[in-house]
Amino acid sequence: MVNMVIVVDGPAGAGKSTVAKGLARKLDVAFMDTGAMYRALTLKALRQKLNFEDEPALVKLAHNTHIDLVNEPGKALKVLLDGEDVSEAIRSVEVTNNTFYVARTPDVRHVMVEWQRQLGSRRPMVGDGRDLGTVVFPDAQFKFYLDADFKVRCQRRIDELKAKGQAVDEAALIKDLADRDQKDFSRKVGPLKKADDAIVIDSTHMTIDQVIETLYRYVKK
Ligand code: DC
Repeated sequence: MVNMVIVVDGPAGAGKSTVAKGLARKLDVAFMDTGAMYRALTLKALRQKLNFEDEPALVKLAHNTHIDLVNEPGKALKVLLDGEDVSEAIRSVEVTNNTFYVARTPDVRHVMVEWQRQLGSRRPMVGDGRDLGTVVFPDAQFKFYLDADFKVRCQRRIDELKAKGQAVDEAALIKDLADRDQKDFSRKVGPLKKADDAIVIDSTHMTIDQVIETLYRYVKK
């Protein structure tokens, strides 16, 4: 029997991972945060002080790395980098701003795509990312493309950081998000692109719960 895979792609700050996580919980299936995998490899490259322009070194690093995503009932997704829990460490600004080097390297993406397909073949799941509907799981049972106005995506990020008690440089955050959009859309391999058969959800005027409910209804139809 074919394993059920549901994918949620879209730009940074659209709420993909919160929505994918919520939908996975509602359906009682696993959650796969593919951005976390790119982030974990970036963290390892930073720790090893690799030159991010050195693509062969990044590819070698990917081949010598083991990244796992652990779903435990009632707990946040755990991201393991060579067995170490890096779930918090991969959310730093430094990691966020350097992930594009790893994400733009074609042979690193090939390694990531293989890992993601392996994870997707193990059990039913909801995954979120940029290229899941177009490249990783072209035959996914449900493909969603989650979008929102740029200003709203910025505001959500600002609110999220403030809620965590972090100081926010709003102008820098807006610039970083615009930068990430540009890099995501223009990447030669695995760019952010709506799959032809994806269902587009514009969450600009929706709450997270409304988005999750909307996706859930599609899946349960
Ligand atoms: O979703 P996120 O912000 O955690 O993603 C982190 C980075 O990884 C982002 O720069 C885009 C990249 N990414 C990617 O290239 N392909 C994916 N499937 C998921 C994320």
